[in-house]
Amino acid sequence: MSDDLAGKIALVTGAGSGLGEAIAHALHAAGAKLLLADINMEAAERVARALDASGETAFAFACDVADGEAVAAMVQAVVARWGRLDLAVNNAGIGQPPVSLAKLSEADWRRVIDVDLTSVFLCMHHQLPALLAAGGGAIVNVASALGLIGTTSGAAYVAAKHGVIGLTKAGALEYARRGIRINAVAPGVIATPLIGNTIDDAAAAHMRGLHPVGRLGEPREVAELVAFLLSDRASFITGAAYTVDGGWTAH
Ligand code: NAI
Repeated sequence: MSDDLAGKIALVTGAGSGLGEAIAHALHAAGAKLLLADINMEAAERVARALDASGETAFAFACDVADGEAVAAMVQAVVARWGRLDLAVNNAGIGQPPVSLAKLSEADWRRVIDVDLTSVFLCMHHQLPALLAAGGGAIVNVASALGLIGTTSGAAYVAAKHGVIGLTKAGALEYARRGIRINAVAPGVIATPLIGNTIDDAAAAHMRGLHPVGRLGEPREVAELVAFLLSDRASFITGAAYTVDGGWTAH
């Protein structure tokens, strides 16, 4: 296992499940110390214990990423614990009810935009000063293949994830000369609780068929890409959105 994040201080949002959990494992295995943020503290604590029962290299933090004060407190907590922040993965997110635009309620639209897009603004807004204070760093935002292409019955999610890629590019340009790289990953359908909780078996079969490789992705396959983008091996990469989607968006 590579140790190219040794000594780095990182935070991962939505670290209590699915992609965030796999990303936390990958970054920890590469040597990073981690704050694991989640709205579900019990889930984040379970992952933190699995990584390091002593709590020396990983700890859980309760945070609703749609709440600016909570996001500010999250960044303060990691800096208070280890003195700085080098790396951030803005991963927390939710799906949307699978309904057409005309049937999507205003409340559901606002909730998805808050949790999937405004959260990424809030996270970057509070993380960037800390990264500058550390002398530079890297951010990866978790978008989606649906940040690059559209779909039916997912307008709020598609809009939010396209927005995440736009925010990634805008931030990357602003901070390119100040030692901060900002990229996005755009996963296809990955086998996580988010997928299991929102679709039935027939929809799962349809989703497998979206990917030319003929299967859903595994969380660790996304985590590999995130760990690479955060490492110095990706030193000339910024402002990009990388697919990890079994060929879906190559159609
Ligand atoms: P998941 O449901 O397994 O995990 C999401 C985690 O985020 C949970 O632990 C949940 O408690 C937490 N969370 C939810 N709302 C939060 C909030 N307001 N504040 C803090 N934490 C919150 O979902 P999954 O699949 O791991 O998704 C992670 C990210 O990956 C999301 O941004 C999702 O949109 C994105 N994604 C997922 C894909 C998939 O097929 N699973 C495909 C493309 C993108």
